[in-house]
Amino acid sequence: MKEYYLGKSKEEALRLLPENKIIEFPTGEESIAVLRTADAIYAFEASCPHRGASLLQGSLHGSEELICPLHRYRFDLKTGQVLAGFCGDLTIYPTELTERGLKILC
Ligand code: FES
Repeated sequence: MKEYYLGKSKEEALRLLPENKIIEFPTGEESIAVLRTADAIYAFEASCPHRGASLLQGSLHGSEELICPLHRYRFDLKTGQVLAGFCGDLTIYPTELTERGLKILC
């Protein structure tokens, strides 16, 4: 498992993550999507596990469900479990807001 940092401080990480906007975080090996809601920060694979649509254009249902823009499948942002649809679960990466920025493990 590799460790990545978004931003160089806690404040910078929060500045880079406007609330309820999904941003792309390229690691060099893959592209990760990061989303800050009012309650949490989530990191997850940027491509939908159904047919690979970009989840950067996904939308939120409540504060913990992500909706894919292509076929509207829904995923639990805490667990990655598919809640509506027929495909594998979404890969979720652990995050931690630290003094060095947002730590993402993947
Ligand atoms: S590609 Fe995401 S639901 Fe089909």
